[in-house]
Amino acid sequence: MKKIRIAVLGLGWMGQAHSRSALRIPSLFPEREFNPELVVCADTDASRRERAVADFGFRRATDDWRAAATADDVDAVWVTAPNMMHLPMIEAATAAGKAVFSEKPIGGKPEQTVQAFAYAKATGVATGVGYNYLWSPLVIHARDLISGGALGQITHYRGRFLSMYGSDELGLLTWRFKLDEAGYGVSSDILSHSVSMAQYLVGDISEVVGMRNTTIARRPLPTGAASHYGQGEPSDPTGEVENEDFASMLCRFANGATGTFEVSRTVVGPESQNAFEVYGTKGALSWSLEQLNELMYYRKDVGVNSGYTTIFGGDRFPYQGAFAPGQANSIGFEDLIAIEDYAFMQSMATGETFHPGFAEAVDVVSVQQALIDSWESRTWETVRDLKAGY
Ligand SMILES: NC(=O)c1ccc[n+]([C@@H]2O[C@H](COP(=O)([O-])OP(=O)(O)OC[C@H]3O[C@@H](n4cnc5c(N)ncnc54)[C@H](O)[C@@H]3O)[C@@H](O)[C@H]2O)c1
Repeated sequence: MKKIRIAVLGLGWMGQAHSRSALRIPSLFPEREFNPELVVCADTDASRRERAVADFGFRRATDDWRAAATADDVDAVWVTAPNMMHLPMIEAATAAGKAVFSEKPIGGKPEQTVQAFAYAKATGVATGVGYNYLWSPLVIHARDLISGGALGQITHYRGRFLSMYGSDELGLLTWRFKLDEAGYGVSSDILSHSVSMAQYLVGDISEVVGMRNTTIARRPLPTGAASHYGQGEPSDPTGEVENEDFASMLCRFANGATGTFEVSRTVVGPESQNAFEVYGTKGALSWSLEQLNELMYYRKDVGVNSGYTTIFGGDRFPYQGAFAPGQANSIGFEDLIAIEDYAFMQSMATGETFHPGFAEAVDVVSVQQALIDSWESRTWETVRDLKAGY
């Protein structure tokens, strides 16, 4: 069986999630054609390097991400550091001929995603991007229903990612709020999930107009190695939030459907409402991460009698049987990461092209760039396919 020797660059939330995938995949997917091996982990935080070896079983850990990304005993690199580190990491890994799986958004600005795509294209390496929600078995089922015509002609799409991760004004000024570490704010961070979902389910977006806002202007400065959700004191010194907390857009799809999108990290109420509603001439579907194991389906032909019905997840849908047999035995957030990592490495083993890869990430930032342009022009902007160049 093909060995896939792994480097992970950044052992925070996502680095740990992908590392756990590598450990779980052999027992979850016996039909796989590869064996993952955790070889080297790079992190600037010493305690995370210790955990990498002691708890995750990496052979070694280093504070030098470049050495990890280019090591001779590595086949594939997972890029799980803050956004503005993605591009140099991808440049080094692709130049060394490694397959690269990068967390979204692939860089913090659209031009960086386009450059990452160019690096991968020039070197011909396999690429993957962490739009993990596309791997929800019920989202795959929704896509199959839509492409099979169950909803008829799609008329309207509503996408949103309303999260409370930044809703506490005492939440620390971590990397996500800073231009030099994150790049753009929610238009990179979570709109990338909403747009990738819409493109996966409905297709290309051709024009957009939108707005942005920053609702919490200053936050307490972190004092230690806080990376994620630490909280400061009202008396702490503060720094400026440098990117947007909120973004929204109206759009038109190439197939004529209309769409609306809203994303926020400071809203109060929805805790992680990554959700869509798709409306067609024969029916509708809706799904939310907050009810990951439920897909709501409205059929016009029986709707008067039943309204929306709930389809529960189960082993009748792709991948779910790896986690639990039967119906309505729930899966969770990290299971989607295990599925995407399995699918990526399986495609490496079989030589098939993996989707979503860097090309799909450029499709997403092509929409983001049009949105950014519309913030300045205050008018509708046509989405240009940035795969053809910037
Ligand atoms: N797909 C998803 O659902 C999802 C969820 C969260 C984050 N993400 C993405 O994953 C990436 C990481 O986010 P996170 O939440 O895991 O962040 P995090 O802050 O939890 O972890 C980042 C890690 O990178 C390390 N790091 C920072 N600079 C480094 C450097 N120069 N060399 C090596 N390591 C370095 C930090 O010490 C930390 O351990 C981001 O791009 C983010 O957008 C994706």
